[in-house]
Amino acid sequence: MQHSSHRIDDVDPFFVFDYTPLDAADHLTTDQRLTTYWDVEAGNRGPAPVPTWLVQDSGAVDTDLGVLKTGKEADVFLVERATVTGASDSSCLLAAKRYRDADHRSFHRSAIYAEGRGVRRSRDQRALAKGTAYGRQVAAGRWAYAEWEALCRAWEHGVPVPYPVSLDGTEILMEFIGDDDGEAAPRLAACGHDADLLDHLWQQAREVVLQLAERGWAHGDLSAYNLLAHRHRLVVIDLPQVVDVITNPQGPELLHRDCTTVAAWFGQRGVGADGEALFAEALALAT
Ligand SMILES: Nc1ncnc2c1ncn2[C@@H]1O[C@H](COP(=O)(O)OP(=O)(O)OP(=O)(O)O)[C@@H](O)[C@H]1O
Ligand SMILES: [Mg+2]
Repeated sequence: MQHSSHRIDDVDPFFVFDYTPLDAADHLTTDQRLTTYWDVEAGNRGPAPVPTWLVQDSGAVDTDLGVLKTGKEADVFLVERATVTGASDSSCLLAAKRYRDADHRSFHRSAIYAEGRGVRRSRDQRALAKGTAYGRQVAAGRWAYAEWEALCRAWEHGVPVPYPVSLDGTEILMEFIGDDDGEAAPRLAACGHDADLLDHLWQQAREVVLQLAERGWAHGDLSAYNLLAHRHRLVVIDLPQVVDVITNPQGPELLHRDCTTVAAWFGQRGVGADGEALFAEALALAT
């Protein structure tokens, strides 16, 4: 057999691999992967300006540090992203929200929130309607995408949400809200009842509702379980079901529920929180 020397552009692209200047890739353990940050489409990376704490190095390694919380429709994991070579070693913590596409997932949110949101591909539409395995995967991806979009737009609008880092299929990577040692911020529902702090947190909860309303939105599932209190700062999470207050026929009703649910929680703890007044103010902003 005769050997000939090939130039690289003679080679079928199938056999050409991207060179990764990193031998660490050979030593990854089962809970590690190379960063997915540069693998996703540009639109699936978070808005500019990218916060300085985010490790963007293409050779960085993501390590799964375990489950933060298993929820009804998704599981949230703690991930550390770290550079393993190079002059400056750096790392950051991320929260990975992975939507379930398996049978265990409950679809209690599907119907009302999806009104007015089109599914373009008819194959997807049929699969969703039939509830096939593919259909469930489509649904999980749609919720991840819906939450991704909501996080990005909310972040750009200045709403205190975790910074959305990237979207990859059914996984959203976002800023981890918590301490550097991996201790997650408690949900508001688990917070102590210091009167001054509660009042301060209520003011921030009002701001969240009003800022979303300015954008035309209601959170749609706002409660003390979807607000994290990181020390004195309130951060709103879990936004896949945000609704457009005007175009969704249930919009005003959902906005009303958000306002009264949160106000009632603060009210029960001695804060003078008026949910109806907040609703009136938010509705005026949204319409
Ligand atoms: N960015 C984050 N930083 C820290 N903790 C987070 C973050 N995102 C989510 N969590 C934790 O994971 C939990 C579940 O997240 P989320 O509410 O978004 O998912 P879910 O599937 O809707 O869960 P649930 O059914 O409990 O509402 C949160 O209550 C919070 O404790
Ligand atoms: Mg939640």
